[in-house]
Amino acid sequence: MSMNIAIDGPAGAGKSTIAKKLAKELGFIYVDTGAMYRAMAYYFLQNGIASDDEAAIAKACPAVDVTIAYENGEQQVLLNGENVNGVIRTEQVGNMASATSVYPVVRKKLVAKADVIMDGRDIGTCVLPNAQVKIYLTASSKTRATRRYEELTAKGESCDLKEIEKDIIERDYRDMHRETSPLKQAEDAVLVDSSDLTIDEVVAAIREIYQKKKGE
Ligand code: DC
Repeated sequence: MSMNIAIDGPAGAGKSTIAKKLAKELGFIYVDTGAMYRAMAYYFLQNGIASDDEAAIAKACPAVDVTIAYENGEQQVLLNGENVNGVIRTEQVGNMASATSVYPVVRKKLVAKADVIMDGRDIGTCVLPNAQVKIYLTASSKTRATRRYEELTAKGESCDLKEIEKDIIERDYRDMHRETSPLKQAEDAVLVDSSDLTIDEVVAAIREIYQKKKGE
């Protein structure tokens, strides 16, 4: 039987790190859906389209083609054929992705795949509602801001911890309160709070949930 694992949660909870490790261990294909919204956001930024200009965004959408490819097991996001992996991880693109993913016209571009571990905001509730394993992965905004701060400074980007936490709180609010498929814990999802857990502890906890389901 094929299995799907859905991991949703707010920005910076560690979804992609955990999902990537689990996918490798379990032999699943990993799809980072946030990267697709980021690629679209990057397109809007490049084309001078404002996040609150829904008409311009709707007009631009048909010209945007986002596809996922895999190279050495790593997900590559192609925007109109061009690999944009290296340019979509900035705070500016993340905030733009949060602001523009509120529009149904943007959300329609996301394609659902089978036999995968997907992470995002609405995977357990909308994209893979029949996933056998659903996880809602979260952590305190302070922990998430600190993690993102450390990630960015390690990459040599200058940033401000307070500013990042403020952005995270704003992003949480927008992701949780938008009309179309807002971020929320699916009724059948297991809540995992990673604030005081290491990456390996989170991976082990989810692996246990998966193995229990598989044995049922
Ligand atoms: O996971 P991320 O930080 O790369 O996601 C960036 C934004 O994309 C996030 O703030 C909201 C949006 N998103 C979404 O609406 N639905 C998803 N399944 C994944 C991301």
